[in-house]
Amino acid sequence: MSQSQLSTVKPSLGRSAFVTGGAQGIGRAISLRLARDGYDISIADIASQKDKVGEVIKVIEGMLIWGVLDVRDAKQIEAGIAETVEKLGPNLFVSVANAGVTQVKPLLECTPEFIENEVRINILGFMNTHIFAAKQMVKQGLGGRILGAGSIASYRTAENLGPYGATKFAVRGFTEVSAKEWAEYGIRVNGSSSRTPPDAFTHLRRRRTAYAPGIVDTPMWDHIDAELAKIENISIGEAKSQRVKHDIKLGRIQEPEDVAKLVSFLASEEGEYITGQTIKTCGGASL
Ligand SMILES: NC(=O)c1ccc[n+]([C@@H]2O[C@H](COP(=O)([O-])OP(=O)(O)OC[C@H]3O[C@@H](n4cnc5c(N)ncnc54)[C@H](O)[C@@H]3O)[C@@H](O)[C@H]2O)c1
Repeated sequence: MSQSQLSTVKPSLGRSAFVTGGAQGIGRAISLRLARDGYDISIADIASQKDKVGEVIKVIEGMLIWGVLDVRDAKQIEAGIAETVEKLGPNLFVSVANAGVTQVKPLLECTPEFIENEVRINILGFMNTHIFAAKQMVKQGLGGRILGAGSIASYRTAENLGPYGATKFAVRGFTEVSAKEWAEYGIRVNGSSSRTPPDAFTHLRRRRTAYAPGIVDTPMWDHIDAELAKIENISIGEAKSQRVKHDIKLGRIQEPEDVAKLVSFLASEEGEYITGQTIKTCGGASL
């Protein structure tokens, strides 16, 4: 029987999870779920989200810290990881590069500045969050879980969301390559972990996986809906309801908690054999 089968202690206890864009929507649901799973939580979001993070802090159980961080600036990500370790201890085990934006315009109307903003947040912010988290995990030598926000747009782009779809294709690519590059490191484990026998030789296991939601009921989709209403000359709410009705086979819009369940699974020991995947959770919307 393996040590994890013998242990009754939650493997997440004493470990921390770093979540970007955790103030609202999917990131908020992930932060709450990982806290419920036993992780200490470090939320990173932009300054204007201070009040919303305050609301998350009120309902979260256990240890939580938050810091102002704009993922467009790599130095801020590096500092955010360092602060997480300084305040919660050198036990960073889960990193979720969730922060993302979507902008809605036909390609012929997309300016270079418009595209650059989306690329800086959705691709550069995502990659740099993964890399700084991985560096810390390597330093700790305890393995970890690195997760990121893909989308069904990582597999199939949509008109008027062109640059967004391209950034989410990049998420899928980077998820694969980082899984290959950081696959396994043989390390010698010393310590009193109940999951690992002292002096046992083990492999450092880090998994890089992305979650690919469909149409999730968050402020992001309210924004998409409002912009599509202008382009398609329809009323507010119509673009969303049409797509939910037509695309989602399970018959209801996706809730942020549906995504958080997948993240919880991937972070857990149950997700042991999964790496490098961008896993769709979309109620059949991608079919
Ligand atoms: N909502 C959906 O239907 C859907 C579908 C597929 C994928 N996604 C992806 O899931 C992730 C979360 O989406 P959501 O719907 O919760 O979005 P949201 O707009 O509701 O929340 C995004 C969060 O990211 C933060 N953020 C934005 N720019 C940032 C920056 N520069 N630095 C740090 N934080 C920043 C925001 O402040 C906000 O808290 C995104 O990457 C999105 O692309 C969402």
